[in-house]
Amino acid sequence: MSNATAPATEAPDPSGAPLHVAINMDGNGRWAAARGLPRAEGHRRGVEALRRVVRAAHELGILYLTIFSFSSENWSRPASEIGDLFGLLRRFIRNDLATLHSDGVRVRVIGERDGLEPDICALLNEAEELTKGNTRLNLVVAFNYGSRQEIAHAARRLAREVAEGKRDPQSIDADTISRYLDAPDIPDPDLIIRTSGEQRLSNFLMWQAAYSELVFVPIHWPDFDKTALEEAIAEYARRERRFGGLAAKTGS
Ligand code: IPE
Ligand code: MG
Repeated sequence: MSNATAPATEAPDPSGAPLHVAINMDGNGRWAAARGLPRAEGHRRGVEALRRVVRAAHELGILYLTIFSFSSENWSRPASEIGDLFGLLRRFIRNDLATLHSDGVRVRVIGERDGLEPDICALLNEAEELTKGNTRLNLVVAFNYGSRQEIAHAARRLAREVAEGKRDPQSIDADTISRYLDAPDIPDPDLIIRTSGEQRLSNFLMWQAAYSELVFVPIHWPDFDKTALEEAIAEYARRERRFGGLAAKTGS
């Protein structure tokens, strides 16, 4: 059995601010191409946007910020680009970890660790270990992450418990599956933002997105900043979240 007991969902903030914002940071390559620059430069500028947005998230009172850093499907890119992306992650952790820590940021990593280079695993572990006592902002890094893979992993663990006679199949419900995902204590995202104008989830938090508001913004990730985040939050605040129920006004 899992030792995770915390619920996967939390009541939304009554003030209307999203507690958990998840971002699919898309468009680095197109940002670079539009300027005649190599894709790597788009990714490098993307890291700068990430720094800005982590700071802005603090300031806007967001408690959980999940970022899609490297997807399970990104392995299909050329090896040189994969090398650039891994190099940026290494540099981000080496250069920024101390600042994130002193800013009270707790770093969490979701996704598949098996098969990653040992030095990358060591850096991810170091970031999680160093910051585990911090509470100001949870930065959830989805690295080598795919939602289908995450759900399959949960299904495998549950199947093993059934096979070992430790679990009755009848006991498996939606909450059980939530508790077997990679970060069961983190509430589902209230708001999922995708930059660059693409309008799909692309295997990002598909289980957790059941009642998330999706906001698609046309700008490419390297141009994303605090103002863009505030605009996405304003759009979120205009939406009426019903969680399958009735509208507040007509529900009485
Ligand atoms: C997002 O930008 C960065 C990662 C996927 C890591 P892209 O590299 O997907 O940029 P486009 O979509 O080619 O413009
Ligand atoms: Mg893309």
